[in-house]
Amino acid sequence: MWTYEKRLQYPVKISKTCPKTAQLIISQFGGPDGELAASMRYLSQRYTMPCKEVAGLLTDIGTEELAHLEIVCAIIYQLTKDMSLEDAKTAGFDAYYIDHTSGLWPQAAGGIPFNACEFQSKGDAITDLFEDLAAEQKARTTYDNILRVVDDPEIKDPIRFLRAREVVHFQRFGEALEKTKDRLDAKNYYYANPEFDKKLFG
Ligand SMILES: [Fe+2]
Repeated sequence: MWTYEKRLQYPVKISKTCPKTAQLIISQFGGPDGELAASMRYLSQRYTMPCKEVAGLLTDIGTEELAHLEIVCAIIYQLTKDMSLEDAKTAGFDAYYIDHTSGLWPQAAGGIPFNACEFQSKGDAITDLFEDLAAEQKARTTYDNILRVVDDPEIKDPIRFLRAREVVHFQRFGEALEKTKDRLDAKNYYYANPEFDKKLFG
């Protein structure tokens, strides 16, 4: 279960309306490398992780990704809550406006809706941890791209925080991968799954 704390993990205070920027940053809500995919990936994978410490790490990071989703949503909301219809039209936000007004809905920057195929839960510790390492780098790259495109310092500040956390998560998953490999038979790396092929691993 979870306990909800009614505050953001990092503050968001944006004074300038900009639906164009919201349309880009929304990718980190519902895009392929966004925070919704990240939280669902880790919170789903944790059940079959053979090493309990690694399962706990997935719970912790999956939970933190939900807090990041909240930060991203707060950024999008603050960028669009005072927009006029004219703002939406000139920013190319009008298609989104037709379907959602200024409501938050998970999609990629290009308008593709969130879908569970954007993450994997394979039931194999090594496979899943490699996916997690890649996911953290992809999220970090997306934040890098956002930082290159956005100029407003009020937006860049929380984005820099989110980027820094992706780097920390990558390091934690690297440690988890080493720990998991130390405890598995080396043969598993290539052809067997210790969570499924139990008789091979006693
Ligand atoms: Fe992350």
